[in-house]
Amino acid sequence: MGEPAEYDRIGDRYSEAKQQPFRICLEAYTLERLAGDIAGARIVDFACGDGFYSRRLMRRGAAETLGIDASAEMIALGRRAEAMDPLGCRYAHGDVAGSGELGTFDLAVAAYLFNYASTRHELRRFCKVAFQSLRPGGRLLGVNDFTDDGASGVRDFSAHGFRKTGPEPCVEGTPITYEFILPEGRSFAITNYFWRPETYVAELRAAGFASAAWHPFAVSEEDRDAFPTDFFADLLLRQPLAAFEARR
Ligand SMILES: C[S@@+](CC[C@H](N)C(=O)[O-])C[C@H]1O[C@@H](n2cnc3c(N)ncnc32)[C@H](O)[C@@H]1O
Repeated sequence: MGEPAEYDRIGDRYSEAKQQPFRICLEAYTLERLAGDIAGARIVDFACGDGFYSRRLMRRGAAETLGIDASAEMIALGRRAEAMDPLGCRYAHGDVAGSGELGTFDLAVAAYLFNYASTRHELRRFCKVAFQSLRPGGRLLGVNDFTDDGASGVRDFSAHGFRKTGPEPCVEGTPITYEFILPEGRSFAITNYFWRPETYVAELRAAGFASAAWHPFAVSEEDRDAFPTDFFADLLLRQPLAAFEARR
């Protein structure tokens, strides 16, 4: 399993870090553009965290969302948001790898789950659970660590609120650290694991998905114009994170 206890300690700060402009203008924009029209869709949100995507997708017309997360604190944040502003999101506390029968969904979302697999076996299990949760023709969409540059050391995106360090060495299963920078000199770190982009695709196909592909983060013209020139250029060029899509 990943590090849910880590999120029990940092849940509120992670939610705060989710307010960076790139989260909405690149990450959510790319994922939701891939999702397209989701009116009436039944959606499972793996590693839902505080319900960031569950809530956005309900607002976009989904019929139902079921969020699953291994951190009790993140689930509590999601339920609190639901209590304050009810949208109909449901949440369950648990490890995705150990999930039993969850139901059958039109769309599965995995925003930063797969990069929590510390072994190839666990990555395979995540892919299998996602496959089994979908109806034939259903899709899995995600955003994830994306490391295809062979780079180790620090990649500094502090203008966007984070720094990425590792893998060191550049071997699959090796940790990657993300340090998130918050106002007033505060910061916190999380640990993901390095898998090559082609390994994710291979495991999705091995789980039974008919197709699987990466999609670079993009920005709408409107948001590009709303920020200083080239504000997002380094993220768009270096793509330290990316989206993926797989169809059952
Ligand atoms: C980077 S956060 C992303 C949260 C949310 N998807 C978002 O985009 O805001 C990663 C989440 O994955 C959860 N997680 C890690 N391993 C997990 C597992 N095996 N099963 C369920 N949740 C897991 C953590 O508890 C954490 O909430």
